[in-house]
Amino acid sequence: MPHVTRWLVDWGRSGDAGVIAWHGGERLGAAWCRVLADVLARDAEGRPLPELAIAVAPGHQARGVGARLLDGLARAASDVGHTAVSLTVNARNPALRLYERAGFQVVGRDGNRLTMIKSLGAQEA
Ligand SMILES: CC(C)(COP(=O)(O)OP(=O)(O)OC[C@H]1O[C@@H](n2cnc3c(N)ncnc32)[C@H](O)[C@@H]1OP(=O)(O)O)[C@@H](O)C(=O)NCCC(=O)NCCS
Repeated sequence: MPHVTRWLVDWGRSGDAGVIAWHGGERLGAAWCRVLADVLARDAEGRPLPELAIAVAPGHQARGVGARLLDGLARAASDVGHTAVSLTVNARNPALRLYERAGFQVVGRDGNRLTMIKSLGAQEA
């Protein structure tokens, strides 16, 4: 399943960054990013941007976990040297609102598939 394993194989490569949401010893969700071979977006200098993946366990969705994961991932990605993070989302996915609130902007569209980028700038401590 290359569309899945490309997110996970050899995890810990230079540039990989991720965070996990924990509560009471339970893992509620995770967000992570890495530069994939099939590059979605590049910065102004042509360097490949990492692409984000996020999931929250079904019983814990819509309670703010995703927003906190996105905050944490922005810091983690900045810490390993990334200047921005990219993602794709279906235009009909309600997650689009979450990404917009987190500072992602639509930079491209292919049918219903949106490409979004968030500039990391200086992350607050
Ligand atoms: C998308 C997802 C990671 C968001 O995490 P979350 O903890 O539910 O999000 P938060 O509670 O912080 O924020 C709520 C926002 O998340 C989005 N959201 C909530 N439930 C969702 C769901 N079941 N599917 C997709 N997005 C959802 C909405 O934008 C919502 O904002 P709204 O209340 O204005 O509609 C999570 O819902 C999920 O894993 N969904 C299923 C998989 C998926 O759609 N992944 C994204 C692929 S691009």
